Amino acid sequence: MPEQKSILLKISNVTKHFPGTKALDNVNLDVYEGEIHAICGENGAGKSTLMKILSGVYPYGTYEGQIHFAGSEVKLATVKDSEQIGIRIIFQELTLVPNMTVADNILLGAEPGKRGIINQNQLFSDTERLLKDYNLDIPYNAKVSGLGIGQQQMVEIAKALSGNARLLILDEPTSALTIDETNVLMDIIRDLKSRGVTCIYISHKLDEVFEIADRITVLRDGQIVETHPVEDLDQNKVISLMVGREITNQYPPRKPNIGDVTLEVKNWTVAKHSQAARPTVKDVSFKLHKGEILGISGLMGSGRTELVQSIFGEFGKRLSGELILNGEPVTIGSAEDAIRHGLALLTEDRKQTSLILKHSILANATIASIQDLVRYNVIDPEKELAVTYEYKDKLQIKAPTVHSIVNNLSGGNQQKVAIAKWLMTDPQVLIMDEPTRGIDVGTKYEVYKLMNELTSQGVSIIMVSSELPEILGMSDRILVMHEGTVAGIVENDNVSSEEIMLLATGGSLR
Ligand SMILES: Nc1ncnc2c1ncn2[C@@H]1O[C@H](COP(=O)(O)OP(=O)(O)OP(=O)(O)O)[C@@H](O)[C@H]1O
Ligand SMILES: [Mg+2]
Repeated sequence: MPEQKSILLKISNVTKHFPGTKALDNVNLDVYEGEIHAICGENGAGKSTLMKILSGVYPYGTYEGQIHFAGSEVKLATVKDSEQIGIRIIFQELTLVPNMTVADNILLGAEPGKRGIINQNQLFSDTERLLKDYNLDIPYNAKVSGLGIGQQQMVEIAKALSGNARLLILDEPTSALTIDETNVLMDIIRDLKSRGVTCIYISHKLDEVFEIADRITVLRDGQIVETHPVEDLDQNKVISLMVGREITNQYPPRKPNIGDVTLEVKNWTVAKHSQAARPTVKDVSFKLHKGEILGISGLMGSGRTELVQSIFGEFGKRLSGELILNGEPVTIGSAEDAIRHGLALLTEDRKQTSLILKHSILANATIASIQDLVRYNVIDPEKELAVTYEYKDKLQIKAPTVHSIVNNLSGGNQQKVAIAKWLMTDPQVLIMDEPTRGIDVGTKYEVYKLMNELTSQGVSIIMVSSELPEILGMSDRILVMHEGTVAGIVENDNVSSEEIMLLATGGSLR
């Protein structure tokens, strides 16, 4: 006799339309009390939309169907309503207030105090206790704007845990976390489970899903494909349910054709930021060749992002060292300079630096290459449309038209628009900082194929990534950073992830 499970959450016949899109199509799903239920699916499958219905972001009346929670039907009007009944969500896109402290953010809306006067001391001590309780290593009085994006994510998690959650929803919580931070999160979730909290877990990282989940549901094109206990599935099965076909190889075959040095970086040093506690870049030197993919690995905070941002001209004068492009010394003092010299930088944080969310796909994609689309001093609208559609197809950007507003795209599809924008500039050096963050397995393969295509045409690529398999799967050489310096540059043959980790943590190879 199978054990009788009690149902905490029952989703019945839920359908949700957006203009031009049916995001959810008659979804039926039961989530058991106390289980960790993972939801997998390609970019745009409808995962976040379903979670926004469960958390009151899309209120009752804006979708069809019913939600039952703890035995009764709920008709949520706001996020507050969902919190009241014990549903807590950590959104895919961070929602913290950058100018406030960690403590203020965590207890925002639930500050201790009387008659509207906040008790600061209690606020700080409550937060400190909460952070300690969950082993989160973040100063409660730090300003959020000075934290790395991984730490910001941990603050989001602490914020969700500050209420009494009965159902915790995590929508891609680890996309910006380090391995250590991810492990802390996994422990927290297990701990919450042992205290009876139910969890819905969304991630494109199937390793994690298989580590933590009791059951997995796959969504495709707004429909539930199947739900199974984790023991009855493996990663390949989940992938094929997600994309509707088999994917045997995660990295496309690569025939490197490496030429002369395109870019040389010599004794590159970045002076300390005014506000950041992060280490700076210290005396970094390396060469990048035509047609090469140079992977940059390192722990979060090791200076990888600062390195590429500074090469791209983002730190103006706070630098010393030399940049030599095609044999000529160059000075790059701004992003405009960088673009003029044929550099492109896909940033790690698309929301803050890459995209104008209220503008269309077309406006965002063409913004960095607009000069190329001008004829007789005016933008050629046909050309603009044609190239944007070309990249929409190439990258499988899921949206009704190229005029769709970027804010309305799913997270992964926003990332694809940012990639399209830089590819359109036709760069000779393409720098990609965490290029596949939030992108589903099928599309990752397409992005990798594109990278290979570009290098075979002579483009040089620098790829910063926290995903070791991706570094090992795609790079010709690997530069490992540790505390702002180069810990080593290794050829990618027979090097193991352990060796990379060793360098990244300050050790040395033999
Ligand atoms: N506010 C909106 N307006 C219009 N369309 C939307 C809106 N929000 C989502 N969509 C569309 O609904 C579909 C589902 O999006 P959703 O964000 O739920 O996908 P997802 O499964 O979370 O994807 P990802 O893995 O990329 O985060 C997509 O086609 C998306 O473009
Ligand atoms: Mg999503």
